[in-house]
Amino acid sequence: MLIDWTSVALHIYDKIKAKVANMDTKPTLWAILVWNSPASLRYIKQKRKWADYTWVNFKLLELDADISEKKLLKKIEKFNEDDDISGYIVQLPLPKHIDENNIINAIKPEKDVDWFHPINQWKVLIWDKSWLEPCTPAWIIKILKSLDIEFHWQIVCVIGRSNIVGKPVSALLINEWATVITCNSSTPNISDFTKKADIVIIAVWKPELLKENMLKKWSIVIDVWFTVVDEKIYWDADTANIDKAWHRVTPVPGWVWPLTVAILIKNTLKAAKNKN
Ligand code: GUN
Repeated sequence: MLIDWTSVALHIYDKIKAKVANMDTKPTLWAILVWNSPASLRYIKQKRKWADYTWVNFKLLELDADISEKKLLKKIEKFNEDDDISGYIVQLPLPKHIDENNIINAIKPEKDVDWFHPINQWKVLIWDKSWLEPCTPAWIIKILKSLDIEFHWQIVCVIGRSNIVGKPVSALLINEWATVITCNSSTPNISDFTKKADIVIIAVWKPELLKENMLKKWSIVIDVWFTVVDEKIYWDADTANIDKAWHRVTPVPGWVWPLTVAILIKNTLKAAKNKN
């Protein structure tokens, strides 16, 4: 079966919309765009579209691509100090002369609705539920909950060790009482681990690494991202050849991006509430 993530995403958006409808002051999502590459503009357009859908204000600060790191840090300082700004993002990637880590670390953690700041990583480890959520990991949990998964009884294999997907999704699953096996793209004999798992979550940016013969019967596959090789898109799981009668899998291509944006907007609401 293909997992219906469109309805999960729409459910999150409609819940946000209902909450915003009852707020006296509409929350605002601010985005700082330094390098307006076609990909970044596409991402910004999506964020604006879903903010509009949920009646959240969307504001964009466009800066010249040759802005110095120092000047950008000054702008961020202003955003941090501005009481009218409760949540903002800095669209990535940034031009090569700017160190992305310096920028991410400068964003005030409570305004970091993208959830990239190290303090926010730690908040997930200690499971501070009042805090902002890691965007992609949070929707993965929502998708699994929409399938009525009882985490206590699940062995989950997470393939990937990134700071924004692999590590935080492992932490969220541990918090939910799942039994978690964490692998990466170099794990030897990786199918020894995937074959034990009721759920496999993969985010390694390695074309079609996960194959049908690496899975246990009835297992669920959540494939998070893709790689582009010679202008062709390859997802991490070879979904086309995974038997949908035995497995529940996320459709490819799917709703990864709208789901990530849904949690981003949910965080924008939370940041506005937390400020008040
Ligand atoms: N560029 C690609 N994905 C993202 C994202 O989730 N957040 C930001 N800020 N930039 C991105």
